[in-house]
Amino acid sequence: MYLDNAATSFPKPDTVHEAVLHAMRTVGASPGRGGYRQSLEAGRILFQAREAVAGLFSIPDSSRVIFTQNATGALNLALQGTLVAGDHVITTSMEHNSLLRPLYALQNNGIELSIVPAGSDGVVSVEAIHHALQVNTRMIAVNHVSNVCGAIQPIQELAEICRRCGALFLVDAAQSAGYLPINVEKYAIDLLAVPGHKGLLGPGGTGLLYVAPHVQLKPVVYGGTGTHSTAEEQPQVMPDGFEAGTHNLPGIAGLLAGIAFIGDVGISVIHQHERALLSLVEQALREISGVTIYGPENPSDRCSVLSFTASGVDSVLLATELDYGFDIAVRAGLHCAPLAHRTLGTLPGGTVRISPGWFTTREEIAFFSNAVVQCIGKIRKASE
Ligand SMILES: Cc1ncc(COP(=O)(O)O)c(C=O)c1O
Repeated sequence: MYLDNAATSFPKPDTVHEAVLHAMRTVGASPGRGGYRQSLEAGRILFQAREAVAGLFSIPDSSRVIFTQNATGALNLALQGTLVAGDHVITTSMEHNSLLRPLYALQNNGIELSIVPAGSDGVVSVEAIHHALQVNTRMIAVNHVSNVCGAIQPIQELAEICRRCGALFLVDAAQSAGYLPINVEKYAIDLLAVPGHKGLLGPGGTGLLYVAPHVQLKPVVYGGTGTHSTAEEQPQVMPDGFEAGTHNLPGIAGLLAGIAFIGDVGISVIHQHERALLSLVEQALREISGVTIYGPENPSDRCSVLSFTASGVDSVLLATELDYGFDIAVRAGLHCAPLAHRTLGTLPGGTVRISPGWFTTREEIAFFSNAVVQCIGKIRKASE
């Protein structure tokens, strides 16, 4: 049983498998690289996928959607493509290394960084972010939902701060896209980084960055774009100039099918399903003595993931018992967000993280709940 959809979603809808196979078996060609029909068909799929992304996030112009390899690629492009020496960036202690590491690296290029600590529930205070503003603040960069504890950040209020001080607003939607509605215009998001392979149900190796029309982006990868072939400099045409090299067409075709699937089911239905499952997990865990659940007290302030520890039980050992004893896949230990673990008080051992997906059933959650009781009991008994 797979309960690690926060890492990547599994299984994918059959329509995603079919779209990948169709792109590989029948389309075959590279988009924008030929005038023959197969290449034109590849170009159509690419365009339809961009339009589907635009529809999902209420993006008025789909040419502002750049396909990347994953959310990490999107975050790197957003940061390296906009920031210059002397810029100040505000971020939070709840961020993933995919956001933190490029920022740490940019500090060597003269970027100033403030990391605002979130509360012990993982939620960042709007006042604390406001307090960190400087005259040279160029960007506020936050994740929408914490991959460690599921805390939903107050992005509308943070967008308002950006709007007032003229800073760019970068949102890492790695754990919210496909689970929560996101409207880039309503939330005044300037840069939205999204994985294609998590909540959007696309294949691995897919992701995207939305760039608002007023944002000037510099390319960070140089190479062939299928256009402006004689130009020595990288064409800065959206989106081609930022997608140098051959596209992952099978992946993008699968992503298109994933987004169509989400559209058919409905984000709010997916969200309710996931919330109902997490609440069943929570009920079961709260009956076990010595279990701590992390993140906001109110489950409606959390999304996608549930993280817990059990006193006297090593999280990694518990996950191993679940895997080998019950064939249940959960993530355990540290979840690529060291400052988030410090904030939540879960260093050095980390947590056990469960993230059900659309295809997870109530029966599976009941099986998990029973298994976790048995595994905790076994580990505690062995250490007596
Ligand atoms: C909050 C957050 N940001 C960024 C990422 C990176 O996503 P990707 O693996 O698509 O690069 C993850 C992955 O787990 C994440 O949880």
